[in-house]
Amino acid sequence: MSKTPPYVMRHGEQCAVTLTLNGRERSGYCETRELLSDFLRHELGATGTHVGCEHGVCGACTVHLDGVAVRSCLTLAVQAEGRRIDTVEGLAPAQTLGDLQQAFSRHHALQCGFCTAGILMSCADFLQRVPDPTQEQVRDMLSGHICRCTGYTPIVAAVLDCAARRKQQCESAEAAHA
Ligand code: FES
Ligand code: FES
Repeated sequence: MSKTPPYVMRHGEQCAVTLTLNGRERSGYCETRELLSDFLRHELGATGTHVGCEHGVCGACTVHLDGVAVRSCLTLAVQAEGRRIDTVEGLAPAQTLGDLQQAFSRHHALQCGFCTAGILMSCADFLQRVPDPTQEQVRDMLSGHICRCTGYTPIVAAVLDCAARRKQQCESAEAAHA
């Protein structure tokens, strides 16, 4: 039996976390109890991710963890060690808007914008899994988000428009290669 005592972290002790943020390896320090949302914003300076309720209800803090939408306020920063994290900043890597963001712009799907980063990340994940959704499916997905401004209708229209354009582009590409 080992005589080495178990290691116990002291209060306030920091540990290193290294992750891949929007395709770039980034490192920082945090306490083991620190939320991923706070780590991204305060340690890594990725302030595109917003924090609203801090208990998993509003969806403002949604990011992708290994490609899947998660609440960063319900995830510890240490759980992201060695993982891939994508945030709203990664949707527009070349300072241009991605097609989903362009659809939001066309349909005026944001007003104050506080909820928008999280909604975009959920929509991006959703459209990967459900590329040709119905309006009901989009509304069901959006039920995990709170938006105080838009009334949701323009957001639904933007998601459906983005899906339709992607489908049209795929069909055109397939026809060109036929
Ligand atoms: S801040 Fe995370 S769900 Fe509201
Ligand atoms: S645009 Fe203001 S909360 Fe959604």
